[in-house]
Amino acid sequence: MQITLVQGDITDQQVDVVVNAANSSLLGGGGVDGAIHRRGGPEILADCRRLRASHYGKGLPTGRAVATTAGRLPARWVVHTVGPVFLPEERTERTGLLASCYRESLRVARELGARTVAFPAISAGIFGWPLEDAARIALTTVVEEGARVAPDGSAEGPAEVRFVLFDAEAYAVFERVRREVGSG
Ligand code: APR
Repeated sequence: MQITLVQGDITDQQVDVVVNAANSSLLGGGGVDGAIHRRGGPEILADCRRLRASHYGKGLPTGRAVATTAGRLPARWVVHTVGPVFLPEERTERTGLLASCYRESLRVARELGARTVAFPAISAGIFGWPLEDAARIALTTVVEEGARVAPDGSAEGPAEVRFVLFDAEAYAVFERVRREVGSG
């Protein structure tokens, strides 16, 4: 699995899966969520509503992931995942939930047969997670997942995981942490 970092808008990425930093309602919001629904169009929300009406009556729990159409995005699917809100007194437990967002999104991407997956910096915006720690959790988890091997010995999962950082500061933090984390 190749891990790449780009600075840009996740809604521009021509990949199989774009991961959305959603909230549990799955009915849209600001940040990445707002950009994906705005650019992706109403089909994404229609799919989200169907999910709410069927499997996720109470909303998508934190740390879980679910796929919908990508609508008008240059992608095939959107995988919505709900990051934890940063809360220092519950840091350990919530760190596990943030790691789960990456792990579960990659599991759903594998089930779809996705070859390329674009992630935002989940929880590092409105949900307030300190950027460096969010980067470390993201990169550590994805490097671990990249080491997965299928029963026949072949590498399991997407060929490329791309972190799409919205500004130069986030890009610089991810680049530094990426060097520290290495390739596992
Ligand atoms: N492309 C890439 N990254 C983006 C984009 C974009 N178009 N827009 C914002 N970002 C960056 C932010 O700068 C931040 O680093 O994505 C990261 C995550 O920020 P948020 O989108 O605020 O996501 P999060 O912190 O997980 O908060 C989720 O915000 O939008 C609402 O409905 C969403 O309630 C949920 C909450």
